[in-house]
Amino acid sequence: MESPASEARWILESVSGLVFDALLIEEAPATIRAERKVNALLERRLTGEPLQYVLGEWSFRDLDLLVDPRVLIPRPETEILVEIALLEAALLGMRIGSADPWADSGRDHVVVDLGTGSGAIAIALERSLPDAQVWATDVSSDALAVARANIAGTGATRVMVGEGAWFDALPLQLKGNLMLVVSNPPYIAEHEESDLSTEVIDWEPYGALISGPTGLEAIEEILMASVEWLAPGGVIVIEHAPHQAEAVVTLAEATGLKDARVHPDLTGRPRVLVARNPH
Ligand SMILES: C[S@@+](CC[C@H](N)C(=O)[O-])C[C@H]1O[C@@H](n2cnc3c(N)ncnc32)[C@H](O)[C@@H]1O
Repeated sequence: MESPASEARWILESVSGLVFDALLIEEAPATIRAERKVNALLERRLTGEPLQYVLGEWSFRDLDLLVDPRVLIPRPETEILVEIALLEAALLGMRIGSADPWADSGRDHVVVDLGTGSGAIAIALERSLPDAQVWATDVSSDALAVARANIAGTGATRVMVGEGAWFDALPLQLKGNLMLVVSNPPYIAEHEESDLSTEVIDWEPYGALISGPTGLEAIEEILMASVEWLAPGGVIVIEHAPHQAEAVVTLAEATGLKDARVHPDLTGRPRVLVARNPH
């Protein structure tokens, strides 16, 4: 555990519903129920379960999402993926902003989040693209159960869910009509498994982390199919590991996509591939 004091604060805040400063000046003693709950959560954390699963929720951009071991814990670098996807959406002419609750929201553009996990990317995109219909897909029915709960809980009424392997989860009539495809696929190689902390490899879904022998299998599969699923001029935005930057650009160019380039994260490491369907 890297910061036990702040993790203990998170747990106290979660159980009490108070921010820590307010807790310090709170005069009333804790109830027995609250004390039991705190102890139960601390015990789970002490077994090595990630704090996010212990709390049962985690934030992603302005969203509070349910998370449990059926889904990957949304990461801060994926917030950058969403930012870059929104910049691309604006360049594609999509309106950015929140939907007017009194007006009919448009469904002018189809946007897809492949491998949605908790639904983080799909819901974040729906929030910021008032004229888009967003598809959230995953091969894991367990993950989709969590995504569905988050879609309902956040009121993301323009998010549709599809189960299946990458683009196979989508209705065939969407083929050739997708304006924006966004994905944070598994991109860790089998031989890199030992570099992961036990908290990650023992608790997060294996299929959300590990792609195969090279780590590039999922990205390659998505890129290969994207040319026929993207609309002419449509854009794909994919998160990858920093050391995969050159390889993902080469893969994108080999599939016939154009303008392939990678964007850095906040620490300057190349993390996000963007490429365009020229046809
Ligand atoms: C790295 S996680 C990303 C989860 C979420 N999008 C996020 O960013 O927090 C990858 C997701 O891809 C899903 N996945 C793995 N293989 C897949 C496949 N062949 N087809 C569709 N989804 C797949 C996993 O179940 C997992 O939810």
